[in-house]
Amino acid sequence: MSTQNRTAYLAALGILAAIGCGGGRSKPVTTSTTNSEEAGRVTNMHQHFHDVGEIQLALISGNLVSTRELAKQVRAGFQGPQPQGWAPFIERSVASAEMLEVTDDLNMAARLAATLANTCGDCHRAHELTVVEHVAAPPPREEDRFSDFMVQHRWAADRMWEGLIAPSDEAWLAGASVLATTELTPEDVGERLVLTPEIETILRQIRSDASSAGSATSAEERQELYGSFLAGCASCHRDMMNQRD
Ligand code: HEC
Ligand code: HEC
Repeated sequence: MSTQNRTAYLAALGILAAIGCGGGRSKPVTTSTTNSEEAGRVTNMHQHFHDVGEIQLALISGNLVSTRELAKQVRAGFQGPQPQGWAPFIERSVASAEMLEVTDDLNMAARLAATLANTCGDCHRAHELTVVEHVAAPPPREEDRFSDFMVQHRWAADRMWEGLIAPSDEAWLAGASVLATTELTPEDVGERLVLTPEIETILRQIRSDASSAGSATSAEERQELYGSFLAGCASCHRDMMNQRD
């Protein structure tokens, strides 16, 4: 990956911002709609995709405060007039966002984010839609093993996230196969962090998620697995920030 691309990845991750200024990505995005009366808001799928993506990113960064604020934004995006027949689906998306808004547990938040993504997928499935069309190639490995693995973890997490939302087997499996080849060992991590028992537990969990991702076929299994896996990124990055404080 070029330096420019890597910088874009780092900027997109928000981890660096979170370390630098403590608050992370806590500000709502400028493109979001603030007028709850605005017509067509519920059907603005690009906005929904963007809003839930911000949640995924905040969680990868281990930032629960941002996650909760962003959940409010997601819920607001589903207010207003809606097409006929959408109510049952929207209720489930809103219910997941509401639980996210109030949770004070990072692991639970990660699981709720996966549930939220799956509620998007449920409506798309009911409409016989697959809303993500392309799966790009994973970023190449070039620098040190640890950074490359992190960038590939991020790529895998994004594809699997899209796999839930689209819903798309292709996207899910692309993420799962990259994840399977980027196994972090305690030695890898020990070079960057103090290997606490908590971090060792997270590593074991991610390894187990990585080994079952390719064979998880139902939406429920994938949701469960993604929540567990996302909780792993979130917890280790939070611990990392604590260690570096
Ligand atoms: C109540 C049903 C329903 C829910 C809930 C729903 N969607 Fe959609 N989505 C649709 C329909 C119908 C389309 C296709 C028509 C359109 O683009 O509006 C669509 C299309 C999309 C697209 C493709 C848009 C494009 O123009 O290519 C994306 C991206 C998307 N949805 C994301 C999401 C995300 C993210 C969520 C959850 C936060 C979500 N959707 C929840 C019904 C839903
Ligand atoms: C066991 C701990 C641990 C886990 C688990 C973990 N990370 Fe990281 N991650 C780190 C550390 C430490 C850094 C900072 C690297 C450094 O020292 O510069 C980092 C940095 C990153 C970066 C910045 C990229 C770079 O070049 O350094 C990305 C992207 C990233 N992680 C994504 C993820 C994703 C996505 C997951 C979950 C699927 C994840 N990480 C799981 C420890 C972890």
